[in-house]
Amino acid sequence: MTNIPLIQIQQLRKVFTMGKQKVIALAGIDIDIPAGSFTVIMGPSGSGKSTLLYLLGGLDRPTSGRIMINQQSIESMDENALAQFRRNSIGFIFQSFNLLPSMDTLRNVGFPLWFSGISKAQRDKRALDLLRTVGMDNRALHKPTELSGGQQQRAAIARALVNNPALILADEPTGNLDTTSGLGIMQLLSDLHRSGRTVIVVTHDPRMLHFSTHTLYLLDGRLVSEAEYNAAASMIAQVTQPEENPTP
Ligand SMILES: Nc1ncnc2c1ncn2[C@@H]1O[C@H](COP(=O)(O)OP(=O)(O)O)[C@@H](O)[C@H]1O
Ligand SMILES: [Mg+2]
Repeated sequence: MTNIPLIQIQQLRKVFTMGKQKVIALAGIDIDIPAGSFTVIMGPSGSGKSTLLYLLGGLDRPTSGRIMINQQSIESMDENALAQFRRNSIGFIFQSFNLLPSMDTLRNVGFPLWFSGISKAQRDKRALDLLRTVGMDNRALHKPTELSGGQQQRAAIARALVNNPALILADEPTGNLDTTSGLGIMQLLSDLHRSGRTVIVVTHDPRMLHFSTHTLYLLDGRLVSEAEYNAAASMIAQVTQPEENPTP
């Protein structure tokens, strides 16, 4: 693989202002993410996980601080450069899959290539290859509503790979899945890591730690030790009802 990004996050801060109220989503964090790592960032709901991934992927801008990818600061990129960087270097995977409901699986997966002016025949070929990689080529002509949650996430992963990005960012990719399909998605992400990609997953699913090479813990927008995280997590578990068997 060429061009594997090495990420350096320095004093990254994101503050949302809602009326007079300020929400500190990220309180100034420093992270180095090695190229080729499978980095898992654990955090409970509201800890700043999505904010961090959005900033990393250039979907939002920090209040202050820096993100360097391959020694290039993404804050210094203008909108065009940022869009190109996102398209060519990053594959996003979301908790809610974000497939377009009117399109079949094949068209959903090939859709990002449309922006690069690639012909329909080539889009379909590439999409089918990727659907085969994620074990979904037999569902190419199904619409998202005709797929299970696990199948939708496989299709979404195929779509994230369509531009062959070196960096995969996944925001709670197993959050809407049953135990078994969730595990399948983790294994798929692990395969992507083993094929040479840098994978960053934010989650509160501790099973993800079986696959990680690096682990970080996020609480209230700050990085904390594993011990501090576990103490907080057991307190959170005591006061919240666990959600049983989310729809697959
Ligand atoms: N667009 C926004 N406007 C205001 N507050 C936000 C916005 N996005 C996130 N927040 C707040 O920032 C904090 C971190 O949110 P988020 O990054 O979504 O956490 P997580 O993904 O870990 O659940 C939360 O308190 C959330 O309410
Ligand atoms: Mg989130």
